Amino acid sequence: MRPSDCRVRVSPGAPTLKSLTPAGCAGRPRRAVFALVAPALLAACGGPQSALDTAGSDAATLSHLFYVMLAGAVVLWLAMNGLMLWVWRIDPRPMPPRYARRLIFAGGIVFPTVVLAALLSWGLSIMPDQRAPGDGLRVEVTGEQWWFRVHYWPEGATEPVRSANEIVLPVGSRSEITLEADQVIHSFWLPSLAGKTDMIPGRTNRMSMEPTEPGEFRGQCAEFCGDSHAWMAFTAKTMMPEEFDAWLAAETGPAAQPEGALAEAGREAFMAQGCGGCHAIRGTPARGRVGPDLTHLASRLSLAAGALPMTRAALVRWIEDPAAVKPGAKMPAYDHLAPDTIEAMAAYLEGLE
Ligand code: CUA
Repeated sequence: MRPSDCRVRVSPGAPTLKSLTPAGCAGRPRRAVFALVAPALLAACGGPQSALDTAGSDAATLSHLFYVMLAGAVVLWLAMNGLMLWVWRIDPRPMPPRYARRLIFAGGIVFPTVVLAALLSWGLSIMPDQRAPGDGLRVEVTGEQWWFRVHYWPEGATEPVRSANEIVLPVGSRSEITLEADQVIHSFWLPSLAGKTDMIPGRTNRMSMEPTEPGEFRGQCAEFCGDSHAWMAFTAKTMMPEEFDAWLAAETGPAAQPEGALAEAGREAFMAQGCGGCHAIRGTPARGRVGPDLTHLASRLSLAAGALPMTRAALVRWIEDPAAVKPGAKMPAYDHLAPDTIEAMAAYLEGLE
């Protein structure tokens, strides 16, 4: 039998799937459905962007809530199907009306009211307080099209430490994240650490999160915001406090000097092409604030807000034509430059650790 023989053709008046399925094909639809559903069921269970593989206290509470609700749903599903099976196969006789009314009242009104009210009050009581005050560090994140502007405000700071597209947080303390948006609504979601909060133009939303272990994670804009919504991601790192302090001190400092003739030529081309009108690189004449701050670009895990890996080849690809990678990206294409010039600029940027 060929697989095409197992295709089900639905016609008007066709009673059941079973009667349409040729003999010998019985297992195929079930296997096909399982093959389609299984990856979806397993996709969120692990990895750097999973609400079930947690590294933060708020995410752990949410994951716990999910598992308890899931267990409750499974018990109810089994009970309902058990009852259905009972009246269908074991005792199909009609129930006396008196008992039937009681069953409907108890099973259809009392039971769901009690169970849902209990689950709701328990769920609300353990819900993490996403607006809990932080321990000192405040990170200001602004949703741009389509990237994240990130400013760190350590306690007592009068100037932010400017960065982009990566959130670095210390383990064991609660950091406050303030969320804003430039033009359209975005949503900040770092599922391994906490729940999601919208970023709304003209409004400052607050949330806080407390990482519990060091690691590298991925976050994603969770609100449709235009052409490149799906390409609007960010990376996150959580570090032990001493490591975080060292990182913040390095991040506060100026950019590395170019090493070698190629990177030196790249720096000159970067300045000559006016890239500094949009991008800032501390310690150089580049002071633009329109695009991401590039001072320590190469220390980030990804390029272009999670769209590309941080490699020289990816830098070249991005400089040549950003919109080819990220539709609607506001940075213009520089494909009119000689390949050697773009290679040199990429070499300079690659050294900005
Ligand atoms: Cu920003 Cu979707």
